[in-house]
Amino acid sequence: MSNVVSYELIENIAVISVNSPPVNALSQAVREGILNAVTTAQTDASEAIVLRCEGSTFIAGADITEFGKPPMEPGLPVVLDAIENSSKPVIAAIHGTALGGGFEVSLACHYRCGIASAKVGLPEVKLGLLPGAGGTQRVPRLAGVKAALEMITTGNPVAAGKAHEMGLIDELIQGDDLKAGAIHYAKQLLESGAPLKRVRDITIDPATVEPGFFAAARKKLALRARGQIAPDKIVSCIEAAVNLPMDQGLERERELFRELVTSPESAAMRHIFFAERQAAKIKDLPKDTPVRDIKKVAIIGGGTMGGGIAMCFANVGIPVLMLEINDEALQRGMNIINKNYKITVQKGKLDPNKMQDLLDLITGTTNYADLGDVDLVIEAVFENLELKKEIFAKLDGVCKQGAILASNTSYQDINAIAEATSRPEDVLGMHFFSPANVMKLLEVVRGEKTADDVLATSMQIGKKIGKVCALSRVCYGFIGNRMLGGYGREAQMLLMDGCTPAQVDSALEKFGMAMGPLAMGDLAGLDVGYKARQARTDLPDDAKLYRVGTLLVEMGRHGQKTGSGFYKYDAETRKRMSDPEVEAMIKAEAAKIGVEQRDISEQEIIQRCLYPLINEGALILEEGIAQRPGDIDVVYVFGYAFPAAKGGPMHYADHIGLKNVYDKICEFRDRDGGEQYWKPAPLLEKLAREGKTFAEWGAEQG
Ligand code: 3HC
Ligand code: NAI
Repeated sequence: MSNVVSYELIENIAVISVNSPPVNALSQAVREGILNAVTTAQTDASEAIVLRCEGSTFIAGADITEFGKPPMEPGLPVVLDAIENSSKPVIAAIHGTALGGGFEVSLACHYRCGIASAKVGLPEVKLGLLPGAGGTQRVPRLAGVKAALEMITTGNPVAAGKAHEMGLIDELIQGDDLKAGAIHYAKQLLESGAPLKRVRDITIDPATVEPGFFAAARKKLALRARGQIAPDKIVSCIEAAVNLPMDQGLERERELFRELVTSPESAAMRHIFFAERQAAKIKDLPKDTPVRDIKKVAIIGGGTMGGGIAMCFANVGIPVLMLEINDEALQRGMNIINKNYKITVQKGKLDPNKMQDLLDLITGTTNYADLGDVDLVIEAVFENLELKKEIFAKLDGVCKQGAILASNTSYQDINAIAEATSRPEDVLGMHFFSPANVMKLLEVVRGEKTADDVLATSMQIGKKIGKVCALSRVCYGFIGNRMLGGYGREAQMLLMDGCTPAQVDSALEKFGMAMGPLAMGDLAGLDVGYKARQARTDLPDDAKLYRVGTLLVEMGRHGQKTGSGFYKYDAETRKRMSDPEVEAMIKAEAAKIGVEQRDISEQEIIQRCLYPLINEGALILEEGIAQRPGDIDVVYVFGYAFPAAKGGPMHYADHIGLKNVYDKICEFRDRDGGEQYWKPAPLLEKLAREGKTFAEWGAEQG
């Protein structure tokens, strides 16, 4: 029938099969193929129609690559109308993930069946969109308003069993032969004279929705929206499902979808969707690079990071051996893991029965000789190069040939660590983010001699433990932490220039950062930066520089752990509160060193904190530390909670225009301390002059 949609008549059942790898997305060809097949079925000998897919999944959504391009006929609504108006029952047969437009296709069918491993969902919100093909109108009709709101505003998929309970799937097919099961189900429906059940015919009684429900939902979503505009519009659509007839509800949904699909927020989130997938690919590594088998992992150091990393592997069933300096430290590490799992159970995110199984996968040792059979070691001891080199030399002595030796170091030189072994090709950085069992990013750091299969294996195992991986070459701080330098510096400079800590943080939080830089400093501990600065000899001799952070530490205010830092913290709730003492101290210090304070706009706060990220990002690209601009964006969105709705620092820079960024940096350079702080990156200057974007530059690099 077409290249991507086939049609066969099996006895009295028409079977339409979509076969458009990798995920059967609703490209123009797929839409046309389904429309033609449904039309054919109207006039042949079939009595019912099964719509199914080949490959790993049912239709996983609209074809995202078509967004932003001129629309191509037939549009999805036309296809859905044809299905819904079919004179013969249409049954969707779901396996894999029926997502977005794919799930919406199934909702326009008269019946839905699926196998137990299937999932259904409307993840459009994660792309800055809302379901644009009836999802917001049909899900509340089937599952109720509350469940629909939860499903569509979180975008999280629902497993088939739960979807069945919610009324979203009519029949669970036993076993794995979905095609045969669906045909059998279709015949049963015919035999029982089942009606053409159209979801649109269900009406929702507005009286069933509590007064104030939508207002409360809007308020809650605004708090977690972080620069996103889609959640509020989703509420409007669901409100329309309650208050308007189906066709008007669909019209409202389409109108709001159209607004979102052209919004910068959605463009940014779609960019992140593709950048995330691209970041996992290493440019110079062939797709078929062999990978090593990782059956057992060892973690050296069971502190803050080691414990979290151990959990990541246990969570996917990989046994972990944790090595510590002594029994006491080992027990401390195990206790933290235990506590973390307990919290997960309390939150209802882990089955209490499964907790012990996970704990059983993590065993401890204080003896290096026990590491002989592990396939991967991740070192997470104190941040000290000599100590790390010593440990890698020991690992070299005890680990089997072919074991991968990784360091979780934040700043140290992976090449120097690799040289402490006789097998530098097996050494690399695997840089997790705190808390390691929660944060999605994994920076995979490629040493000069790291072997291809070691890199490929690390990317693969990273994906397996649920991380988003991005590759960095070796430099101080790798991609993410290296870029942070100017961000933290300017946050503190702004205080000297006249801002309060709350003004700085709230400007960046309004921009969409999960937490402002000063509150983040308090969380991480101000003593960490203080100690690091003391060890540096390259800092400019400037009384303003880090003056506030330094004085706070010297006052014993190390951040949340001491109950105060840039803010003071409620002992019970840990809620941050502005501290007049700090504000007065900043004013007095500025006066002491002759800094004239002034009112500073939110825009300036954002520019001064974020433009250094962009500038350092440009240097990182020029030096080949990051493979692509999108990789940097992935690092910031998944490792530093940069708002996805802004697309990461490099995409954001493209959005504002590189010339604007460059000009502003020059302005700050001329006003605020010269090139020691504000030296435009040559790549930024070049692209600004040529009127190009980072994305265009990245595409040219291949
Ligand atoms: N359109 C275009 N390409 C898509 C796509 C889509 N909807 N979904 C996935 N792809 C591509 C990926 O970019 C990737 O391409 P690559 O191999 O060149 O990098 C390839 O398919 C495989 O994807 P994954 O690596 O993500 O494969 P997984 O097996 O890990 O995951 C998945 C499969 C769960 C389906 C995941 O790809 C996914 O979540 N896809 C997006 C689903 C989605 O957001 N759907 C809604 C789209 S918007 C919509 O439908 C609007 C409607 O309401 C009108
Ligand atoms: P931590 O101080 O919480 O834990 C370090 C652990 O290593 C301690 O439990 C200590 O007993 C153990 N240890 C020390 N020497 C050892 C040895 N010779 N053999 C075995 N165990 C030994 O430190 P944290 O925060 O977990 O950091 C560890 C590493 O992870 C550092 O390199 C750090 O830079 C890096 N990192 C830290 C992040 C963070 O936010 N804390 C984030 C990302 C990386």
